[in-house]
Amino acid sequence: MNQMIGDRPILFEPNPQRSDDFSLSQMLDLIADTFGIQIQPQHQDTLKKNLLTHIRALGLSSLNDYCQRLMARNQLISGGTEWQDLISLFTVTETYFFRDQGQISLLKNQLLPELNERKRQLSLTHGNAANGEFYRPTLRLWSAGCSTGEEAYSLAILLKELIFDYHAWDILILGTDINQSAIALAEQGIYSEWSFRTTTPEIKSRYFRSHKKGWEIDPAIRAMVTFQPGNLMQDSYPAYAGSIHDLDLILCRNVFIYFDFNAIA
Ligand SMILES: C[S@@+](CC[C@H](N)C(=O)[O-])C[C@H]1O[C@@H](n2cnc3c(N)ncnc32)[C@H](O)[C@@H]1O
Repeated sequence: MNQMIGDRPILFEPNPQRSDDFSLSQMLDLIADTFGIQIQPQHQDTLKKNLLTHIRALGLSSLNDYCQRLMARNQLISGGTEWQDLISLFTVTETYFFRDQGQISLLKNQLLPELNERKRQLSLTHGNAANGEFYRPTLRLWSAGCSTGEEAYSLAILLKELIFDYHAWDILILGTDINQSAIALAEQGIYSEWSFRTTTPEIKSRYFRSHKKGWEIDPAIRAMVTFQPGNLMQDSYPAYAGSIHDLDLILCRNVFIYFDFNAIA
């Protein structure tokens, strides 16, 4: 069926005379296979509308031409620009600081203090104090599907509050996501009021300063966190080149809820 967007028709269904033309359902399969994400039926109309606008903006005339362009550029590796534009059409990047109060309370009162103690002891037993040997304690935490970074920065703030001598530690707090626009915002570390829905005024004033575009994260907290692109569906782990190994804690919240069953299993 031809869809009118603006003044130019876009062919969205496969051409019946060409058996290898891409259909919307094949596009949905491609998204599920590549990223794990299942677009629910109630969201497919919106995706279709957004795809039509995008296809038109690219000067193409059919969904098939668009899919061919994706494939021809061999940008299946989700870092490609074309794929990034597509990713921004279907990913849900909703997030905020200290989002899940139950999880935050467990981290703050139990998991992080236990890890802190265990890793501190480990560094002492590895070194030989009599010989003046001292091993820096390490902590490696991963926010998988970190979106614009609020979860990873929440971890950094919790650690800074907990570990008085955090400068003497080797701490990795890594945030990864398929959406590179979200990663770019995470790296900027500037947030609107909406990201502070469940942040106490004390924490906000201690770790953020006013900025013309909102609130900017404290540079010391910013420096504790590293962001990089990553696709949970296609990358293999441990990933030594990406520092995703020997992790003490992985947070992966509100990511698998968008995945299809096969991708989770
Ligand atoms: C709703 S946000 C969750 C952010 C944060 N974890 C939280 O709970 O607030 C979901 C994020 O998962 C990312 N995502 C979806 N599929 C992914 C995949 N295959 N690999 C990595 N990230 C993915 C999306 O781009 C999006 O930014």
